[in-house]
Amino acid sequence: MTATLPSSADAAKFLADFHEVAKIGATPNGGVDRQAATAEDRLTREWFRGFAEARGWEVRVDGIGNQFALLEFVPGAPHILLGSHLDSQPLGGRFDGAYGVIAALHAADRIANRVAAGEPRPTVNLAVVNWFNEEGGRFAPSIMGSSVFAGLMDEKQMLAVQDLAGVTVKDALTAIGYLGRDARPEISGYAEIHIEQGRILEREATPIGAVDYSWYTQKLDIEVLGEQSHTGATAMADRHDALVGAAKVILKVHEVTEHFEPETLVSSVGQLTLEPNSPIVVARRVHLVADLRAADKAVVLTARDRLRAEMAEIAAATGLTINARDFDVRDNQHYPEAGLALAERVAQELGLGARRIRTMAGHDSVAINRIAPTVMMFIPSIDGVSHCEREFSRDDDMVAGVSMLTEVAWNMLHG
Ligand code: GLV
Ligand code: MN
Ligand code: MN
Ligand code: MN
Repeated sequence: MTATLPSSADAAKFLADFHEVAKIGATPNGGVDRQAATAEDRLTREWFRGFAEARGWEVRVDGIGNQFALLEFVPGAPHILLGSHLDSQPLGGRFDGAYGVIAALHAADRIANRVAAGEPRPTVNLAVVNWFNEEGGRFAPSIMGSSVFAGLMDEKQMLAVQDLAGVTVKDALTAIGYLGRDARPEISGYAEIHIEQGRILEREATPIGAVDYSWYTQKLDIEVLGEQSHTGATAMADRHDALVGAAKVILKVHEVTEHFEPETLVSSVGQLTLEPNSPIVVARRVHLVADLRAADKAVVLTARDRLRAEMAEIAAATGLTINARDFDVRDNQHYPEAGLALAERVAQELGLGARRIRTMAGHDSVAINRIAPTVMMFIPSIDGVSHCEREFSRDDDMVAGVSMLTEVAWNMLHG
């Protein structure tokens, strides 16, 4: 059967739900703040549960807080899984992640309605997922729930991860009532739709991106150790200021990209904590996290080695101790050709332009792509901005994306 665009009523229902969820944790300038396992995260989970239970779907929560809604067509068969994440960065955008989960719920609803109306019954089952802690802003590493699901991270270790206040994942999930014990669904395929977070689709006026490759990414977890002392009474020559060392490291992380062709490597220090953090005390310890990403793994490894050497020089010159370790390493990888071909065929049937595209941002699909045939799709982002309140995608692009996901899932369910 040839794919068709949704009725305007279906489109309106999706948009109403999208804009409703955007109210949860809403921030003054149009964003949301719904970090993993917070009260706001709990509210989105309640909304997800309400959507599923209103349709009679079974809701499950696993041991790392992943939330599933299950639709059974064939008892005992595996599931095609659709989803993304409802958590956000601090002062994040309302589209990153949430769009994909709400799109997946609506795709599942349309599929259920079509089957109820007599269209061919799927040969496998369907499930929707809201992955726990994709963003990694509160609890690092990111992509946590899907990585545990895929067997790439250890559940016990992840439950013990602490936020900056010393609260563990386990305690935070327990506090919001989402440390589950339910069995994980067995899956035979995964599809995710997300905003691009770059400017290629917008610039080319192409509504759909079929993701064919994800960049190599890694972080460097860095600790600079100095000596705590009085900011007034200590002679300048006697200071071992960890924050001065950290400042030098941050500049090196920023400048390392200049040793490569423009935009082949990107890097930032996005998180920094200092102890004891008093205006009248020379810092004893600074913890910072650098994020390095490139299409080519060798570029990141070369940059990382260069930074390690530069940090050793800074340590020698300042008398500080600098420890650095690789962290949150995600290998570059291709997405399967069959899924790309499927997305392209569906886009053509729907009359939507599509192009292949790479992702520099991390997604739950980079974890699930390891264990199941995976299709990842993008819709345009305006101005390419993301992880900020200004993040924006247009209603008509979101609506087109829901149709894409619905038809891709329909094909996977009848494959
Ligand atoms: C998280 O959003 C990432 O891009 O790694
Ligand atoms: Mn995301
Ligand atoms: Mn994100
Ligand atoms: Mn991400």
